[in-house]
Amino acid sequence: MSNNVSAHGMWSSRWVFILAATGSAVGIGNIWKFPYVAGENGGGAFVLVYLACIALIGIPVMMSEIMIGRHGRQSPINTMLAVARDSGRSSLWSLIGWMGVVAGFLILSYYSVIAGWAMAYIPYSMSGMFTDASPEAIGNIFNNLVGNVWLLLMWHTIFMGVVIFVIARGVQNGLEKAVKLLMPALFILLFAMVVYAAFATGQFAAGLKFLFTPDFGKLFYPDGTNFSGQGVLTAMGLAFFSLSIGMGAIMMYGAYLPKGASVSSTAITIAGADSLVAILAGMAIFPIVFANGLSPGQGPGLVFQTLPIAFGQMPGGAFWGALFFLLLVFAAWTSAFSLLEPVVAWLVENRGMKRSVTAFLCGGATWLLGLLTVFSFNIWADVRPLGFLTDTVFAGQTFFDFIDYVTQNVMLPIGGLFIVMFAAWFIARGIRDEELDVTNEPLMFNIWLFLVRYVAPVGIILVTLNAIGLFA
Ligand code: TRP
Repeated sequence: MSNNVSAHGMWSSRWVFILAATGSAVGIGNIWKFPYVAGENGGGAFVLVYLACIALIGIPVMMSEIMIGRHGRQSPINTMLAVARDSGRSSLWSLIGWMGVVAGFLILSYYSVIAGWAMAYIPYSMSGMFTDASPEAIGNIFNNLVGNVWLLLMWHTIFMGVVIFVIARGVQNGLEKAVKLLMPALFILLFAMVVYAAFATGQFAAGLKFLFTPDFGKLFYPDGTNFSGQGVLTAMGLAFFSLSIGMGAIMMYGAYLPKGASVSSTAITIAGADSLVAILAGMAIFPIVFANGLSPGQGPGLVFQTLPIAFGQMPGGAFWGALFFLLLVFAAWTSAFSLLEPVVAWLVENRGMKRSVTAFLCGGATWLLGLLTVFSFNIWADVRPLGFLTDTVFAGQTFFDFIDYVTQNVMLPIGGLFIVMFAAWFIARGIRDEELDVTNEPLMFNIWLFLVRYVAPVGIILVTLNAIGLFA
């Protein structure tokens, strides 16, 4: 039955939930992934589709996750079981939770490695390595880092170690403090970078034009002649990834949300903050790209090869750079917790295992899986595990590319599709009406219902079919 508290503890207020969920949403996805993926997919049109996906699919999915989580009050697997049962539906709906656990493991495995790059950049910056360095020199620093197995392993291990430690103590203790202080600090520093890009690069207009002038030809015909729906699928997948939806992370956090808080305004606040951070990151990075003759489509190294140029030229840049990467690492941690928490909570609920032991075992498994990503940038850089699938997107992918693609563009959208279908058609009306407070917020409720019934599911399916090439 519906509980008013969760066994794992509760957020102390709606604001703490907003902070924690924003902490989950805002991460290296916004600052590392969004700019490089937008750059690879031609800019403006991609950004527009991304924002449309946030508004029309992302927010409704997020509201559904919060609502289900708050009613179930447990890990996503058990929450789906409980809410399906309370609604008189099949226990098979808990498969959403299971897929989420797998997706969480896979995402965290590479997330930790990339966050390790940001960690490495803290001492790099402090030591003055970037000061007055040329773009080539900074490119070499990056290539030397990702080419070095031992360095990557060390940072990956430290990052996962902290994740394990915090999750072992229980999410609330560490998390509330971290997000209250560090997220606003990251935001302010990012904003300052945009101001720097506006005044010091001479290419601000070019950066804005790239980000905000949609050219759909670039999105649909990346090579100039052949149609591809992959860009749109990537935009949608990135919207899921960036909002932390589709795998139960927000459902998990929703389980700790006090009754009475408005689900719709909460979700809109989180999505707004998340998109803003991504856009600001783009506005800081692309002017630097154009001012230094770099390519917007250079791939995962983009942030790591652009921002250091700016830090290297500004007064006190060694300090500001170190601070920026430190805050980025904290943003990554607050995201990483939400990837591990669902499975840990589930093991605590069902196996009665100790939180600390569970955190260690699950974190250890993730660390091991992360080796695939570590090697993808050096000793296995030429390995194409699915190379035999010629003429598919998979053929050219490294292990890292594949894990990233499958989680973001396949698992999260499928998870999101089932979550909205459950929320739209299968959940008991009483639960839905109560959680979304239909009496006091009838307009928001009806907009949500329209979006989860028609827009989101049809959108997810069409985007996917388009990417498979059905409409080409
Ligand atoms: N949203 C985070 C980011 O942008 C990553 C993340 C955290 C995530 N939890 C998630 C992605 C759950 C998908 C699902 O960096």
